[in-house]
Amino acid sequence: MPTLDKTATIADLFSDITPDGFVERYWNQRWYLGAPRPEVIESLTGGGPSLATWSEGFRRAYSWRDAKPRLFGLLGARQVVPITPSQADPILAAGRTVIGAILDRGVTRLATLLKSELGIPGAVETSASISAPGEAASPHYDGPHIFVFQVAGKKQWNLSRERLIHNPKLGRNLNPDGTIDLSDASENDVEDPGVRVGECDSVVLEPGSWLYVPAGTVHSTVALDKSLSFMVDVKPTRFDQVVDRAFRHAHGGAGSELPPLAGAGPEWSRQILTAAAKWAEELSPTHPAVESAWNDLCADLGALQTSFWENRA
Ligand SMILES: [Fe+2]
Repeated sequence: MPTLDKTATIADLFSDITPDGFVERYWNQRWYLGAPRPEVIESLTGGGPSLATWSEGFRRAYSWRDAKPRLFGLLGARQVVPITPSQADPILAAGRTVIGAILDRGVTRLATLLKSELGIPGAVETSASISAPGEAASPHYDGPHIFVFQVAGKKQWNLSRERLIHNPKLGRNLNPDGTIDLSDASENDVEDPGVRVGECDSVVLEPGSWLYVPAGTVHSTVALDKSLSFMVDVKPTRFDQVVDRAFRHAHGGAGSELPPLAGAGPEWSRQILTAAAKWAEELSPTHPAVESAWNDLCADLGALQTSFWENRA
């Protein structure tokens, strides 16, 4: 199995703050722009994706074993459509952006280092964005925390000064008046409709720059020239998800088939609540179901990354 030389550490990404200082002052609070460190990123990823190889990473993620294809074209303001890898080049030629999951050994390695050296919990996904010059993403916020690494070209990021939503369940678009677009929300995932984005900051990423964007921070992007960036997306560990998943583990083999409580009928609700009450009696942090749930949500890299990491060639 090939190995990568590790000559740099995550600490080398920082010039003006220690990794502990970053976690204390910025993590889950506000965005942070790292000074350009192309040689550090190169060392941490063993090269990573480039303008010549970006499509390989998309193709690998799109077709990886049981993975759900996650590749999208941004065709206009808030017009995000699922695409296949062969549609990427025509969309770029039309002046648009392609964004999606990538599998790349170096990026996955960087993700593991970020998790282990910064002590970050949460499943990790890796993605990339390639943009023709012009508007890329329209204002929105995402569910995961995002580390962006600019590989080629320059990209402007407009960011809300603070997180708009604390620990969001899902990402959402913003309406032109700065309110959250809740047109497709269900009763289980509604964020506060009264929240409105305030003043935004603007930064430009150049090759070797990196940016941390806390979950729930509103952002939009403009490619200043042909731009390639890759992202390490860390899903926040939410208490409700730990409880939900632990209960599903405790419920045994049929656990994953439990419907959401709100969608269940009276008989399902009675069964679920009876099982939950019984489970609560024996609940402890060392209960195997709780440990399994915690490991699912925190310790693992995430199903796709773990599968890729364990089978890396
Ligand atoms: Fe985003």
